[in-house]
Amino acid sequence: MLTLLYKNIFKPIAFKFDPEFVHDQITLTGIFLGKFKITRRFTKLLLSYSSNNLVQTVDGVKYLNPVGLSAGFDKNAKLLNILPSVGFSFEEVGSVTLEEYEGNPKPRLYRLKKSKALVVYYGLMNKGVKVISQKIKNALKTDMVIGVSVAKTNCTRTSDEQAGIEDYYECLKYLVDNNIGDYYTINISCPNTFGGEPYTTEDKLEKLLNKLTQIRVNKPIYVKMPINLPIQEFDKLIQVIVKYKMNGVIIGNLTKVRDPQLIKDSIPENVKGGISGIPTQELSNNLITHTHRKYGDKLTIIGVGGIFSAADAYEKIKRGATLVQLITGMIFEGPELIKQINSGLDKYLKMDGYTNISEAIGAYNR
Ligand SMILES: Cc1cc2nc3c(=O)[nH]c(=O)nc-3n(C[C@H](O)[C@H](O)[C@H](O)COP(=O)(O)O)c2cc1C
Repeated sequence: MLTLLYKNIFKPIAFKFDPEFVHDQITLTGIFLGKFKITRRFTKLLLSYSSNNLVQTVDGVKYLNPVGLSAGFDKNAKLLNILPSVGFSFEEVGSVTLEEYEGNPKPRLYRLKKSKALVVYYGLMNKGVKVISQKIKNALKTDMVIGVSVAKTNCTRTSDEQAGIEDYYECLKYLVDNNIGDYYTINISCPNTFGGEPYTTEDKLEKLLNKLTQIRVNKPIYVKMPINLPIQEFDKLIQVIVKYKMNGVIIGNLTKVRDPQLIKDSIPENVKGGISGIPTQELSNNLITHTHRKYGDKLTIIGVGGIFSAADAYEKIKRGATLVQLITGMIFEGPELIKQINSGLDKYLKMDGYTNISEAIGAYNR
């Protein structure tokens, strides 16, 4: 019912407006709904789904279901109070950087309606680690897991390799020293920054993780992976990640490739950025299978990219993802998608004879 309303009334109107404006209005609505017990309860009644079959403990952290909000939707941690009622078991705040960045010039969000995708060019826009940490501290304490995605401040100063590493280090250290968040993600793969993606080569990632592992962290750390590298180079990054005993990888970030087979909309020349949604789906799925087959015993995999249904989420889980995240699917399908995914996963588990979601992880690779 809600999905019908969203798709037939809200979306046709909202999709006529600038996507960044719509996103800002949705954020304001979320902040409002998160303020009061009654609005939180009502939202939960409409949107939430719970089942013991979906509960699992991953790297020591308890998740009520496997579906999270991916980094980039709630950059400044404004939605922490409402998201548990929307049905997410976790959200990744950020990406957060040491210093504030006001974002790349507009347009920095562009819809590709036919391709079910977005072009994203925010370039790590956020309020900086101190402001965001305070927001997290002030939020209601709920059972939603809070991940914090850490990146380097987007400015010319940090395009120098060593300065960039120091910037990541100070940001992560601030979070750890102030006990902010339940897990951390090192985002090495934002495509829209000064100097490109500087830590997606083996030697540079080695230097970055060598420095970051000097911080004593007693929470899980994941690395957010690029999805456009040749497999040999991707593998080399994974080997560094295993060497530095990271808990896992998030596969993965936006695609930089404008594949005409997948991108059916024409993109104006002034629209720059990485692409989310369906064009990332297969790239992400193949890398999940590859990583699970080779490193499944050493790394937790969080699968992201083009999840628009329970079937899409289950596919990633059977390929080897322990948890999944999404953004674009929710924008195209509406907020009821999270409930549909969780209830759909519960049904799939029963159909396949599993009693818990953890039993389905990597089922294709056995
Ligand atoms: C508007 C928007 C902003 C994003 N910003 C970030 C970010 O700051 N950090 C990050 O690691 N990923 C960011 N991403 C990438 C998403 O977290 C995700 O990896 C990607 O969109 C694929 O998932 P989806 O198809 O479900 O959207 C962003 C994506 C979108 C759509």
